[in-house]
Amino acid sequence: MRILVVHGPNLNMLGTREPGIYGTLTLDRINESLVALADELGCTISSFQSNSEGALVDAIQAAVGTCDGILINPAAYTHTSVAIRDALAAVALPVVEVHLSNIHRREEFRSHSFVAAVAVGQVTGFGADSYLLGLRALFTHIEKGIVTKG
Ligand code: DQA
Repeated sequence: MRILVVHGPNLNMLGTREPGIYGTLTLDRINESLVALADELGCTISSFQSNSEGALVDAIQAAVGTCDGILINPAAYTHTSVAIRDALAAVALPVVEVHLSNIHRREEFRSHSFVAAVAVGQVTGFGADSYLLGLRALFTHIEKGIVTKG
């Protein structure tokens, strides 16, 4: 099983970016802990970060035929991007949406997600653990699908 991990804009600045909200772990550290968990679970991950909406759409489209699911923190594009939502719907792979902060207890504009309606579920508010919980949830979801189909 292969999972694509997609990180949206400004997440390359984790570690120094608003640490009171997003914590002090860098994106590299988060990716390392995802690789360690993927090893434990028995899947492989590839991670991609971009600050550009089009590059994120391209990465999602490229997952067709190469990945079994997508773990995504769309960051600010969560709240604005119909293009990312449409790309996720188009590839028709299982998606889990994650956020470091709890988007529902911050500014009102953050509580709406364009991605949520095309995701299996959302993990929000657990810091870097949101990614790990999200990977476990996505892995289990995909595995159940494989078992059901098999
Ligand atoms: C975020 C929440 C978004 O509202 C924000 O724009 C981000 C990060 C999070 O992980 O908490 O960039 O997705």
